[in-house]
Amino acid sequence: MKHYKTQILKADEESIRLAGELIRNGELVGIPTETVYGLGGNALASDSSKKIFEAKGRPSDNPLIVHITEIDDVLPLVTEFPYLAKKCAEKFWPGPLTMVLPKSDLIPFETSGGLDTVGIRMPSDSTARAIIKAAGVPIAAPSANLSGSPSPTEAIHVFSDMNGRIPLIIDGDNSAVGVESTVISFENNGIRILRPGFVSPEDLTEITPNVTIDDGVISKLGKDVVVKSPGMKYRHYSPKAEVIIIDGELDNYVEFIKTNTNKDDCCMIFDNDIIDVENPVIRYGKDSEEQAVKLFSTLRKLDHMNIKKAYARCPSKEGVGLAVYNRLLRAAGFKVIKV
Ligand code: TXA
Ligand code: MG
Repeated sequence: MKHYKTQILKADEESIRLAGELIRNGELVGIPTETVYGLGGNALASDSSKKIFEAKGRPSDNPLIVHITEIDDVLPLVTEFPYLAKKCAEKFWPGPLTMVLPKSDLIPFETSGGLDTVGIRMPSDSTARAIIKAAGVPIAAPSANLSGSPSPTEAIHVFSDMNGRIPLIIDGDNSAVGVESTVISFENNGIRILRPGFVSPEDLTEITPNVTIDDGVISKLGKDVVVKSPGMKYRHYSPKAEVIIIDGELDNYVEFIKTNTNKDDCCMIFDNDIIDVENPVIRYGKDSEEQAVKLFSTLRKLDHMNIKKAYARCPSKEGVGLAVYNRLLRAAGFKVIKV
């Protein structure tokens, strides 16, 4: 793999122009979005998509999301734009929703991970939008972490994973949502949630009552199962520290910590939890929205603190909480203890 001297530039007119030019010329750029930072390349060029997989160390059957700025930009990229998808676009775009649609020949199989479908999203972050416009092509962008690591919500996270692997990172706002987009597909006149995100199942029922959640969202899939969203089958979001989810009331959590852990095991708890333990404590937000914003940076912090084991309080599974739970479950390798 080519070695780059990676530059981080603050988002401004000049750096955005440069990002657009690099992407148009087949290079990769770390870009801010409202969900997480993305690793952006020209979605229409198979070589760019190959570079993305290489830079991330990502299995090549895990498809990339294609980012656009206008609803009409969807049309050349797909062979069908069903009624429900149009309704979703009108209601949730620009924003953290990705729709899986049948792909046109413009999308190379390298971008779609060999599938006949493509995930499309219109981000709301103004820097992301400006970069897509400057590139003049749709941008394929997975989260800009090394495959398996927590997704980046700050430019510095991208630098720590991608230093030397890409020429440029645009330093914009920290990601306001903090977990990746909700990924949906359309089946049997309904909506199927393949990956939960900020746009919740409850939000989607405003489009149709026929909303289902894929089995892979909160259960571990067997090795032989054909998954609808390939990203859900891989080890994901994991810090070096071992994470274990403790599902139960605060009193039971504290009791568990006091009787079952070593003093240097970390308590990963909510902001409002009052606990009296000797273990190191790290807090990841007071409610689901805040937990979404802070989850990935908290997982990265565990490693900076040299924590070997962390016991996380189990988040709510309602609304955006389902997205937090889905990510934490994977970070924990599906280890959950009920107390
Ligand atoms: O918020 C986001 O979606 C971020 C930012 C950068 O936009 N991107 C992101 O991309 O999270 P990535 O590559 O880390 O995750 C893409 C997810 C994977 O789980 C993948 O399997 C699923 O979307 N996906 C993409 N295209 C798909 C398709 N055609 N069919 C099924 N699932 C698809
Ligand atoms: Mg990712």
